[in-house]
Amino acid sequence: MLQIIQIDASEMDNFSYLIYCPETLCAAAVDPSMRPELLLNKATILGLTLKLLLNTHGHQDHIAGNDIILKQTNAKLAAHSADLPNPDISLTEGTKLELGNGSVEAMHTPGHTPGSVVFKTGNQIITGDTLFVSRCGRADLPGSDVTALYKSLQRLKKLPKDTIIYPGHNYGPTVTSTISWELKNNEYFKCQNLQVFTQLRMGA
Ligand SMILES: [Fe+2]
Repeated sequence: MLQIIQIDASEMDNFSYLIYCPETLCAAAVDPSMRPELLLNKATILGLTLKLLLNTHGHQDHIAGNDIILKQTNAKLAAHSADLPNPDISLTEGTKLELGNGSVEAMHTPGHTPGSVVFKTGNQIITGDTLFVSRCGRADLPGSDVTALYKSLQRLKKLPKDTIIYPGHNYGPTVTSTISWELKNNEYFKCQNLQVFTQLRMGA
């Protein structure tokens, strides 16, 4: 099973991640934020080879460090082309990325941005700015779509309850949670219909 390491990339409470295969030491870096050196240093310490650079979406606070990672490694950039034009690997719903003896699957979860994706491996998901611990992403930004965000969250709600959530920012009472915890505690997750969600999210 692929392992996930969470890295506090500071600045705007961003989290970066390493996904790696413990047998082959092949790894993927996720959302380098403004501190790509933290990912590179951790990969070096653990003896990991970065094969992939994954972006959950195209906002600058998540992708600012992309260039440094791409220059210093042979990693291929994988992202949704609605957010990042011409990535090496263009992600769509269900794209499966092999990594060592495991794989990472992309779920297309638009709403916060048109090209937002959630990365799933085993019972773990990296949710970017779609879902945070106790909150969800903004839907009032250029390119945001509150209806799409509601639908994307409904998909995440259907994942197994023990699925572990690794968010894009440290905005909650804990740094990770589970679908089960969010179903009980996240007011955005608990909304029963689009109208209630829109009122809560947009303040309308
Ligand atoms: Fe964002």
